Amino acid sequence: MAILLPGGAGYIGSHTAVELLNAGKEIIIIDNFSNSKPEVLENIKKITGKKFKFYEIDYLDKEKLEKVFKENQIDSVINFAGFKAVGESVQKPIEYYTNNISGALVLLSVMKKYGCKKFVFSSSATVYGNPEIVPLTEECKVGGITNPYGNTKLFIEQILRDLYKSDNTWDICILRYFNPVGAHESGLIGEEPQGIPNNLMPYIVRVANGELEQLSVFGDDYDTKDGTGVRDYIHVVDLAKGHLKALEKLDKEEKGLYIYNLGTGVGYSVLDIVKVFEKVTGKKISYKIAPRRQGDIAICYADPKKAKEELKWEAIKTLEDMCRDSWNYIEKR
Ligand code: WQD
Repeated sequence: MAILLPGGAGYIGSHTAVELLNAGKEIIIIDNFSNSKPEVLENIKKITGKKFKFYEIDYLDKEKLEKVFKENQIDSVINFAGFKAVGESVQKPIEYYTNNISGALVLLSVMKKYGCKKFVFSSSATVYGNPEIVPLTEECKVGGITNPYGNTKLFIEQILRDLYKSDNTWDICILRYFNPVGAHESGLIGEEPQGIPNNLMPYIVRVANGELEQLSVFGDDYDTKDGTGVRDYIHVVDLAKGHLKALEKLDKEEKGLYIYNLGTGVGYSVLDIVKVFEKVTGKKISYKIAPRRQGDIAICYADPKKAKEELKWEAIKTLEDMCRDSWNYIEKR
């Protein structure tokens, strides 16, 4: 029985593929390379020494997706397919709603047709909007999101709740990622944003290697310890391992719809990241204080207790690991 990974050539998908293969699981990746490259598949094989099936298809293409289900015995699906750039989603709402929401609906309808009802969904801490309190537990209020990307995550969560309500033989796990950073320690896979990165760590590594001149720190007047934004950065390999634990939970426990935060529970400021990155890599990061970025919040970090208790999962890698591995990937590529 195989695990299907739509979007498995992407950043989080590829790291999860590695962990699943290392754990002896059979996987099938589908990807249309809209935001990833074919070399990633070779590198997953290099890291693990294992083979897997791959289909170059768009998950919106129902006929081709059905063929994958007909040709294979698929037991569960972890859905990584989806556009993920917040700023771009404001410019291209139709593309984001179509790809993320219609894609998920096509996938779920094909799964239903073939009797495959085990589903793990990549959601985001963005569903919490502007947090009223931190740390954020899974029971905190969701909504109040200011961009289409975040809305797609929230809407798909709702679709999954409605689906489970209609048929409780579905077995669903929603994982709310905080801020994934870092790369596999081999340096063979990592994050490849298109164009100038919007996220902090990909920007910092490009200042360190000279591709970009200077980091703009968006705001130093937030109500935080040094005035800069605080986030819960989590190493992508820890995050990837969370997916294995989610699948284990679905395999073992009775059917249900479960929601977990995947974060470390620790918040670091933008300046903390700059300092630790400089210490670990020996590279100086030139930065200037710039105005706040529209739509940004001051503080966001997880209460990771539920995942620890119920999934027996916990992030173990440090901020030093995250900085070192992000840098290692950029240097090697
Ligand atoms: C982190 C901190 C910035 C860049 C977004 C999405 C979320 C998600 C992860 C998507 C903030 C500051 C950043 C820069 C800066 N998932 N910053 N200069 O905004 O927490 O979350 O990415 O796939 O859904 O909303 O992450 O890395 O953009 O920013 O000062 O050049 O770094 O203001 O405080 P964010 P981020």
